[in-house]
Amino acid sequence: MTLHPAAERDAQSLTEGGPSGEAGYGRVRPAGVDTSHGAILYLEDITVSFDGFKALNNLSLDIGVGELRCVIGPNGAGKTTMMDVITGKTRPTGGTVFFGQNIDLTTLNEAQIADAGIGRKFQRPTVFENHTVFENLELAMKMNKGVRSTLFARLSSEQQDRISDTLALIRLTPEIWRLAGLLSHGQKQWLEIGMLLMQEPQLLLLDEPVAGMTDAETERTGELLNELRGKHSLMVVEHDMDFVTQIAGPGKVTVLHEGSVLAEGTMAHVQADPRVIEVYLGR
Ligand SMILES: Nc1ncnc2c1ncn2[C@@H]1O[C@H](COP(=O)(O)OP(=O)(O)OP(=O)(O)O)[C@@H](O)[C@H]1O
Ligand SMILES: [Mg+2]
Repeated sequence: MTLHPAAERDAQSLTEGGPSGEAGYGRVRPAGVDTSHGAILYLEDITVSFDGFKALNNLSLDIGVGELRCVIGPNGAGKTTMMDVITGKTRPTGGTVFFGQNIDLTTLNEAQIADAGIGRKFQRPTVFENHTVFENLELAMKMNKGVRSTLFARLSSEQQDRISDTLALIRLTPEIWRLAGLLSHGQKQWLEIGMLLMQEPQLLLLDEPVAGMTDAETERTGELLNELRGKHSLMVVEHDMDFVTQIAGPGKVTVLHEGSVLAEGTMAHVQADPRVIEVYLGR
């Protein structure tokens, strides 16, 4: 028996890119990025100097495919600078950054890095306030270069399904026709995460996603990120330790301090590390 081509593609897209590198929700191994060694991101010996001050100092870190990695550490540890290096906003003074085995991110500009499949969420939500929730997701999907449609083309049923799935995931189904500008701060953050997901990033970087959220919104964000684990590779920077505990689960947490990795391991492991308590958790 042969599978119908669409069914075959859908089955394949659960774990890797479709044959043409086309849309497929939950794709973690795109055509183009070689993750055959199991990692989506490799930072090696990264140094960033600002007028002689080393914001990153021989930082080395790998992220596995489908992993949700939490990064914690005191103010000024270099967490945001690390994301700036990954996304091409800041060039490292030394070291290498690879996306999979084959894509040297230090040779690409910010737009090329986004196109290669790295999405980044900044702290402040950036949504199209004068458009509805639905339109925000639709626009984000159509800006994805991998999707063959124009801004004016009607959505295929597959595309409509992707929007409804994303709405459910980001808990905004009841708000589908609301203007984004009328959403709460937390809902805007979820919408932006949804917009990033519509672009099918292989790696998603979130810098302090729950800052300014209510407790209830924070908890729902944790549930949301837990649902993405395994389908996407994620790096999440946060200071809210209850939240980090909720999303880290049994996974790895990396502690940055003075531009390098101070400790790495499960949340329980790093919480018990006296050096981590001294520079961060015990403050
Ligand atoms: N463009 C820049 N020029 C000079 N110094 C900078 C620049 N960007 C960051 N720094 C410095 O680099 C260090 C690391 O900053 P970074 O923003 O990466 O820290 P962080 O870990 O994200 O901190 P926080 O938890 O407060 O967000 C800080 O001392 C900061 O002042
Ligand atoms: Mg920061």
